[in-house]
Amino acid sequence: MAKSTRPKASSSKVESDGGTLNTSVPKEAREQVAEALTKAVADSYTLYAKTLGVHWNVQGRDFFGLHKLTDAQYNELHTAADALAERIRALGKLAPTGSETFRALTVIENEAPHKPTQQMIAELARDNEAVARRMSEFAELADEAGDLFTHDMLVARIGVHEENAWMLRSSLGE
Ligand SMILES: [Fe+2]
Repeated sequence: MAKSTRPKASSSKVESDGGTLNTSVPKEAREQVAEALTKAVADSYTLYAKTLGVHWNVQGRDFFGLHKLTDAQYNELHTAADALAERIRALGKLAPTGSETFRALTVIENEAPHKPTQQMIAELARDNEAVARRMSEFAELADEAGDLFTHDMLVARIGVHEENAWMLRSSLGE
């Protein structure tokens, strides 16, 4: 029987539309950098959502300061998630969508019920530290893959997460 020349039903278009790209990033590297960025988006987005929840629910004597601090942090995280996702698109891959996908890819636990304010702030500080460590791994991977722009983006994220952690810890008097 003659071999069918029909294209396969599962077109690669669903997973990637970067077949004709000819950018600074080697073709072979795009897949693995995009995969790391996908996890970086999941972490940033989940931490954004978690920080927003803390912003809404902080209480007590330090309410105003913590409400303002988390306001600045969740807005910055939202912008960062957007920029990281758009970098994935520039690499010719599709950005992640859907809460199930984010949940599967992130190191941040955001399923917990309401907690006392001090506990929420301490947890956010630890979460930012965990994300800083992940960003560091991803930045090294991007560097080794020859993706200088992504490397720079991720290095900048390390600084932001470590600064977030410092501010959250300091607000606890640590
Ligand atoms: Fe608000």
